[in-house]
Amino acid sequence: MTELVVRRLLIDLAAPFERRWNGGDAFSSAFFNALSMSFPQGEQYFIDSVRAGLKALPEAERQGLAAEVQGFVGQEATHRRIHALFNEQLLKQGFDNQIEGRAQRRVQANAHYNVRIHVAATAATEHMTALFADWMLRHPGVLAGAEPRLQTLWQWHSAEETEHRSTAFDLYRALGGNEKYRLKVFKTVTVIFLSDVLRQTVRNLWHDGSLFRAATWAGGYRLLWARDGLMRSNVRGWRDYLAPNFHPDQHDGRLSARWLQEHAGAFAVVARPTAV
Ligand SMILES: [Fe+2]
Ligand SMILES: [Fe+2]
Repeated sequence: MTELVVRRLLIDLAAPFERRWNGGDAFSSAFFNALSMSFPQGEQYFIDSVRAGLKALPEAERQGLAAEVQGFVGQEATHRRIHALFNEQLLKQGFDNQIEGRAQRRVQANAHYNVRIHVAATAATEHMTALFADWMLRHPGVLAGAEPRLQTLWQWHSAEETEHRSTAFDLYRALGGNEKYRLKVFKTVTVIFLSDVLRQTVRNLWHDGSLFRAATWAGGYRLLWARDGLMRSNVRGWRDYLAPNFHPDQHDGRLSARWLQEHAGAFAVVARPTAV
């Protein structure tokens, strides 16, 4: 079991930031904004899914996972609160958040599915988030042009995503979820998540007035498809999920632990969930 500490980030997001806040780079600012726009709704869905999954477990197994699920819920609840503040600034800048409404409608349309499917969708998204998070921590230069408080926001979120990468996966296994649906849901979630984020990125670039500029897409190529880029360098990590003996802990979590240790002054510990 992983001990998941709930932390409150000590940064002020009431003050505005630049529209191209990531060092003036249009594409990466728009891309990260799209991710942030998806978080409050997405993370609420993860919280609801793991809570329902835990409830569906027999008493003995519930005991074993209760503290970790509580820590997961605490971390995601903190993420969604702080990204809601970030998104408020985006709203003031005139950005139009479409990804949230689309996700909301999807959650409603899929509400009738068995709890195992929701936990599988959570585990699938968490795998992609963990790949993104580890990539972010391995490439701190990606945020080099951002204000320190925004660097802290994205790196802290990344560190915690790595930290709780196994929770939904373990819950899915504990619920007796099978391999067929684990993989099927993972592939579906990948297509939906990436196309949603790309659509929102394009919308953000349109609003920014940089959609049709070659420099924007050169930045996009560098961020996503260069050798060390987010997409290209994570193809193998994405594929790992398809292996029958895969477990998220097989991926290295040391960068997350190191970041949390080295930046202990950036947050306050608010809870250390323990088994009851
Ligand atoms: Fe999160
Ligand atoms: Fe997460």
